[in-house]
Amino acid sequence: MLGGQLLHGGDYNPDQWLSYPEVFEEDVRLMKEAGVNCVSLGIFAWATLEPEEGRYELDWMDHIITRLEEEGICVILATPSAAMPHWLTQKYREVMQVQADGHRNLSGKRHNFCYTSPVMREKITAINRELSKRFGRRKNVILWHISNELGGNFGDSTCHCELCQEVFREWLKKKYGTLDELNNAWWNQFWSHTYTDWNQIHSPVPYGETTSTALILDWKRFSTEQISDFCEMEIRAVKEFSDLPATTNFMYFFKGLDYNRMQRGLDIISWDNYPHWHKQKDEVPAAVKSAANHSMMRAFKKAPFLLMESAPSGISWRTANPLKRPGMHMLSCMQAVAHGSDSALYFQWRKGRGGFEKFHGAVLDHKYGSNTRTFRDVSEVGKRFKNLSTLIDGTVNQPKAAIVFDWENWWAVEDTQGPRLDFEYKEWIVSHYRTFWEEGIEVDLISMDADLEGYALVSAPLNYMYKEGWADKVRKFVSNGGHFVTTCFSGEVNDTDLCFLGHHPLEDVLGIVPEEIDAPSEEFENSFCYGGMEYPAKDLCGIVHPRDTVEVLSVYEKDFYAGCPVVTCNPYGNGKAWYLAAESDLAFLRAFYKDVFAEVGLHNALDTELPYGVTVTERSSADGEGEKRIVFVMNFKNEPVMVEGIGKWMDAESGETCEGSLELEAFQCRVLTR
Ligand code: GAL
Repeated sequence: MLGGQLLHGGDYNPDQWLSYPEVFEEDVRLMKEAGVNCVSLGIFAWATLEPEEGRYELDWMDHIITRLEEEGICVILATPSAAMPHWLTQKYREVMQVQADGHRNLSGKRHNFCYTSPVMREKITAINRELSKRFGRRKNVILWHISNELGGNFGDSTCHCELCQEVFREWLKKKYGTLDELNNAWWNQFWSHTYTDWNQIHSPVPYGETTSTALILDWKRFSTEQISDFCEMEIRAVKEFSDLPATTNFMYFFKGLDYNRMQRGLDIISWDNYPHWHKQKDEVPAAVKSAANHSMMRAFKKAPFLLMESAPSGISWRTANPLKRPGMHMLSCMQAVAHGSDSALYFQWRKGRGGFEKFHGAVLDHKYGSNTRTFRDVSEVGKRFKNLSTLIDGTVNQPKAAIVFDWENWWAVEDTQGPRLDFEYKEWIVSHYRTFWEEGIEVDLISMDADLEGYALVSAPLNYMYKEGWADKVRKFVSNGGHFVTTCFSGEVNDTDLCFLGHHPLEDVLGIVPEEIDAPSEEFENSFCYGGMEYPAKDLCGIVHPRDTVEVLSVYEKDFYAGCPVVTCNPYGNGKAWYLAAESDLAFLRAFYKDVFAEVGLHNALDTELPYGVTVTERSSADGEGEKRIVFVMNFKNEPVMVEGIGKWMDAESGETCEGSLELEAFQCRVLTR
C-alpha cells in the first residue's frame, strides 16, 4: 500500500495563497484535525514554479514539503503541464492546440496544449527535471502525478496543427507501409477516396473528412498514442533523479482516449470521480456508474488504484449541484475502497478565493473554515481510514467475472451508419454491469486485449468490432470451460471497420447464424418469453438461425421473424456461450444473468439475496495465498435495510458478531470479516 496507509486528503493549491502566509499554518493544523495524511501539490503551479523562462522558484514548495513532512503528511507531486503560463504561450504560439476548425487557441484555460510541439515538450521536460532533482528523493514525496486529466479539454482532446498532421502521416506509414495497404484497409475505393499521396491525408474535421470511419478510428488511436507518448516523456523526465512511481489522473469512461493503451505507461492507476448523487431519489443508477468506473480502473492492472479526486460536498460544474446528503460522503469514500481504491482524495482542500472554481466544494470553506458539516464528514473518513488501513492492507478484489469494455469498439460502433445511429455503448455496458452489481457479484471491466485466464464468465455486449485475435481468444476460453455472453450486432467488423465476409467469426462457438438486423420503431416492438415471463424485444432485433447444437431458450413472438431465436445457449468444448439476439429491458437482463450466475456458480460474498440498493464486494489477499477476506456491504438507500441469510460474520471494525442478518443504516457501509 502506497505510503503504508489508505491515503486521505487531496488537491492542495498553496501557490494560490502565498500572499496569505497565515493560511498555510492553519491548513497544516486543520489537515491534522481532519485526518489528512496526503496532499497533491503543484498541479497547476507552473507560473509560480517558473515565473519566467528558465528561472525556477522552488523554495516556497520546498518549505511546504518540509513542513508537511514534519507533520507526517505525504505528498503526491504534480508536474505542471496542465496549465501553461502566459510567458510560454506568448513567446511560443505553437504550444497551443489547433482546433478542428483550424483555429489555433489563444492563451488561457487549461489542458489545451499541443502534444506534439517540440517546444512544449522541451519546456515541460526542463521543469520536470528541476522538480525531480529537488524533490524526487524527499522522504514524504510518494508519487508523481503527471499533468492533470490529460486530453480533457472541454471536448476535443486532440490538436489538428500541421505538425500533428505530419506525425499522424508518419504513424500511418509505419502502420500500413504502403498507401495501397492503407487504401485497402480503409476501403477507400468507396466514393473515390483513394489516396495517391500521403500528404492528402488529413485528420477528420467537420469541414473535411467525417465519413471515413477507418480514418476516424486511426486518428483516435493516433491521438491516444500521442498523448500517451507525451505522458511517458514526462514520466522519463521526473524519473531522472527519482525512483518514485508515476500516475496520471484518468477521468471516467472518457471517450476521447483509450485508457487501456494509456495505462500501460503508468505504475499506478488513479482517477477522478464525480458521481451525480441525489440527481434522483433512487441512488442506484449513480452508484452503479461509479462502481463500474472503479471496476475498470482496478482491472487495468488487476491491482489497487487511487481515487485521486472526488468532491467533499457539492461541485460547481453541473447545472444544479446538490450537496451530499448526510451519510453519502462516507459511503462514496467507502465505495471506492470497497472496489479496490487505496485512497479517498478530494478536489480540493481549500476553496480558492477567486477564479473559475471558487464555489466548488472543498474541505475548507471561505467563511466557516472547519466549522462545517463537510469538515466533520471528512474528519469522520479520516478517523475510519486509520483502522481500515491495516484491515485491507495487501488486499484487492479478485472477481471471477468480466465485462468487455473496449474503447476501439466504442469508437467504431457509435460512428457506424448501421441499423441504428444512436448506439450508446457505455449505457449498454452499464446496464449489463448493473445486474452484476445488484447481485453483489464483482466484475472486472476489461478490453479485448486482456487475458481471459482466471475468469469463469465473460460478457461482451454490443461487441461490434473483433480486434485481431479476439475470436480465437474467446474460442479458446469457452473451449476450456469458460462461459461467454454476447449480443446482437457483435462480430461485425475487424480493426479497420471492414465487415467479416462469409460468416460470423464465432458462429461455431455461439451456435447461431445471423442473417438480418431489424431496428423496429415503438409500434413494431416485438416480444419474447423467458423463464415464464414476457419481455420486450426492441430497438435492435437480430434475426438469427440456430445451428444443430444450440439450445433455443426464447423466440420472437411477432412479426415476420416470429419463431426465430432471441436467447440461445450453445455448449462448446467444456464451456457455454449465450447469445442475446435482441435488446430488451433491465428486468430481462436481471432474470437472464441470474440464471447465468447460477449455471456458472457465481454468488456474492455473503451468499444471499440482497435487498434493492444494497451491494457487496470483497477484497482478499492479493497474493492469493493470504487469509484475508474483507467484505464490504453497502446500502445506497436513504433508509435502513436488513440483509437476511448472511451466516456468521464479524464486523471487522467493531469486533461485533453478526449472525443471520445484518442491519444497515441509511447510506451505511459495513465491513465484515470471518
Ligand atoms: C477535475 C479537475 C480538477 C477540478 C475538478 C472540479 O476534473 O481535475 O482540477 O477542476 O474537476 O470538479
